[in-house]
Amino acid sequence: MRICHTVQEVRDFVRAVRAEGPVGLVPTMGYFHDGHMALMHRARRECRTVVVSIYVNPLQFGPQEDFRTYPRDPERDLCLAEAAGVDAVFMPADAEMYPPGYSTYVEVEGLTDKLCGRSRPGHFRGVATVVTKIFNIVRPDRAYFGEKDFQQALVIKRLVADLNMDLEVVTVPTVREPDGLAMSSRNVYLNPEERLAATVLYRSLRRARDAILAGERDPERIRKCLAATISAERLAELDYAEVYGLPWLADLSRLEGDVLLAVAARFGRARLIDNLVVKVPSAEG
Ligand code: PAF
Repeated sequence: MRICHTVQEVRDFVRAVRAEGPVGLVPTMGYFHDGHMALMHRARRECRTVVVSIYVNPLQFGPQEDFRTYPRDPERDLCLAEAAGVDAVFMPADAEMYPPGYSTYVEVEGLTDKLCGRSRPGHFRGVATVVTKIFNIVRPDRAYFGEKDFQQALVIKRLVADLNMDLEVVTVPTVREPDGLAMSSRNVYLNPEERLAATVLYRSLRRARDAILAGERDPERIRKCLAATISAERLAELDYAEVYGLPWLADLSRLEGDVLLAVAARFGRARLIDNLVVKVPSAEG
């Protein structure tokens, strides 16, 4: 497995293998869990060459957020990537990504006004900018993202379409702990009590889904159901509980088609998100 620290190194690596077949990219911030491994395994199955980027992107963290303390373990990550059959890892330093004089940013409008975009101003501008840069550096045929960060995947699909980028965005289902908690690098912040409490996120989503499947079609009542379940958990501080129409997060007056149930809450110092897509049965059944 090749380890590349500079843009030039990873470009040279990809240039040498591109003719052999599709290049898959898994962009990450490291501290791998099974969710990351699922992305790598999927890319390994579908692409001739797999490149993983590991970069904790300062641009997507707010001033009060956890950039400094974000968990990092590059040595373990490299072992796991190698075991997953990854061909190259791109792990640049900040100066390589944002050298002095850096002044270009990517904004995806509309989609980023809601959910995490509203709670974390500037977050998606940071994500869209770094992902655009990594796409331009690696020039993958396919890029793999987890569905836990559903809004992020939509933002990236939007920017790929709008900027005519020649690649396919592949999304991979959320990987969960046996009790339903979505895997996240930030789960490491949870103490045992908070870890137990955090299972309320997926529980709230399943309860809301069951209400929809039982016939509820009022988005406001579903929002209240999500919020009430989370707020009943003493250690949870609700950030948002929302319902939107897919594919592009439409506001709904009545539930129909594919809807996204999305929640975020704080448990101690961990801010966690989760979501579920529900196919609303049509009136005809
Ligand atoms: O999902 C992540 O880990 C990050 O937001 C990403 C896509 C690697 C951009 O920094």
